[in-house]
Amino acid sequence: MSVNKVIKRVTTSALRDMKHRGEKISMLTSYDYSTAKILDQAGVEVLLVGDSAANVFAGFETTLPITLDNMIYHAAAVARGASRAMVIADMPFGEYQGATDDAYKAAVRMMKESGVHALKMEGGEEIIDNIKKIVQSGIPVCGHLGLTPQSIYKFGDFGVRAKEEAEAARLKSDALALQEAGCFAIVLEKIPAELATEVSKMLDIPTIGIGAGNGCDGQVLVVNDMLGITQEFKPKFLRQYVNLAEQIGNAAKAYVADVKAGDYPNESEQY
Ligand code: KIV
Repeated sequence: MSVNKVIKRVTTSALRDMKHRGEKISMLTSYDYSTAKILDQAGVEVLLVGDSAANVFAGFETTLPITLDNMIYHAAAVARGASRAMVIADMPFGEYQGATDDAYKAAVRMMKESGVHALKMEGGEEIIDNIKKIVQSGIPVCGHLGLTPQSIYKFGDFGVRAKEEAEAARLKSDALALQEAGCFAIVLEKIPAELATEVSKMLDIPTIGIGAGNGCDGQVLVVNDMLGITQEFKPKFLRQYVNLAEQIGNAAKAYVADVKAGDYPNESEQY
């Protein structure tokens, strides 16, 4: 008798339950099928197809140039690789900040063409009507407050946000507005740990921190950074678990040496 192993998908309500029972949520970015499969099998609960693909995949200085078509391509690959993890795709800059109808159509395109389970959008009150429309149509939305890289030219640098009282107060009211609009979670990026803890306690929905301290309900890192593939980016909050840049470099050097020496392929590696 064959036993069909049913893999249960992580859902928005599972994430909320995790918050309520105090179990931390793990999220990593992912941009391709093969890595998504490894991360999914490792037990990462949420895979974020971040628009950081613009930086770590395409080599752009900011996330602004990535297009909806680019994001759909990455998101579809990740969705095919994940059996258990929830897959969230970032909506790219310019696709959801304008007319509600345009934002809605872009969101529907992303859902239909990529197969992801939810979308993430940067911003608060200023995009709330668009988020409401998208959530009401049945698409789960994750918010993103604090350092929102799509607004980098407004901020001027990648420094810690909401250190001043006025910006912290605005962040808190944006967080409540996003929850009210139906967001199922909020990413808090690069804000003081004390503020992130306060926001996490205030909300019923989970917060996922990146550079926002240990009081968040979960954590997210850019996978290329935590694997040590990215070499030029080492912020204080980053924990690098392995130095893949060194390992890949050493493997490539060994391959070059083997090819040059006529040592690869050997007899067992040919037909
Ligand atoms: O694009 C991204 O990778 C992100 C994370 C840093 C949260 O938005």
